[in-house]
Amino acid sequence: MRMAGKVALISGGARGMGASHAAAIVAAGGKVVIGDLLDEPGQALAEELGPENAVFVHLDVTEMTSWEHAVTVAKERFGRLNVLINNAGIVNHGSLLDYSLKQWNLIIAVNLTGQFLGIKAATPLLLASAPSSIINISSTAGLQGIAELHGYTASKFGARGLTKSVALELAGRNVRANSVHPGTISTQMNAGLDVADFNPMGRMGESAEVSSLVIYLASDESCFVTGAEFVIDGGELAGTGPLKNK
Ligand SMILES: NC(=O)c1ccc[n+]([C@@H]2O[C@H](COP(=O)([O-])OP(=O)(O)OC[C@H]3O[C@@H](n4cnc5c(N)ncnc54)[C@H](O)[C@@H]3O)[C@@H](O)[C@H]2O)c1
Repeated sequence: MRMAGKVALISGGARGMGASHAAAIVAAGGKVVIGDLLDEPGQALAEELGPENAVFVHLDVTEMTSWEHAVTVAKERFGRLNVLINNAGIVNHGSLLDYSLKQWNLIIAVNLTGQFLGIKAATPLLLASAPSSIINISSTAGLQGIAELHGYTASKFGARGLTKSVALELAGRNVRANSVHPGTISTQMNAGLDVADFNPMGRMGESAEVSSLVIYLASDESCFVTGAEFVIDGGELAGTGPLKNK
């Protein structure tokens, strides 16, 4: 019951890693507000987790009013908000000459501005419900560049930086903020990708493995941890050299 008494709001919670985090938090005794553009799977997940534990809210992370509504639902349904998991994200790619301003603006709006708006909307209730924890999902692409992922890399570096300025501002008021940097995780975002050539463990990570780290950061077990970066990548960022996977 590591999350007993805690209420979490998860963006992009209808599927993939966000859905896994929602299930893990409920299994650990917490309550969740699942926010996503995808109404059907989001509602189905909330029903599966039980109306006493979970509620779905339609959320577009690029809209401040949408975030404000999600925070209001957390307050009205569960009375407080201790955890914000800024998980919603998209990926797009292209060489410099092909990559359009439209693609750039879209990914920055979702992956970076979306996290900023979530923090802005949730902070008053996180402060009122403290101790609280903000978890910004970045990527290993927030620590090193990835060719032809210009917008994704920039947005994930931005999320890492935003985490630190927020952590500094809120540390004295018992609200922590940390960034999580997954390597390649098995979700719809990268279905079919073969990682044997570059992942030292020779496999993708599972969403549940990331959820274990998220539970640590969401719970009071990590009460002295703020402004930090947590890599979970099967050793991908450890260095280079011949791998023994094949
Ligand atoms: N899968 C990976 O290998 C990997 C690695 C590193 C980081 N990440 C990051 O982890 C997070 C989760 O990714 P995932 O792999 O579970 O992907 P996913 O595509 O399965 O899930 C992303 C979710 O975000 C939602 N979403 C997209 N735009 C939204 C918006 N404007 N408002 C609200 N919700 C929106 C989608 O509907 C979807 O449910 C993302 O931020 C992603 O960048 C993924």
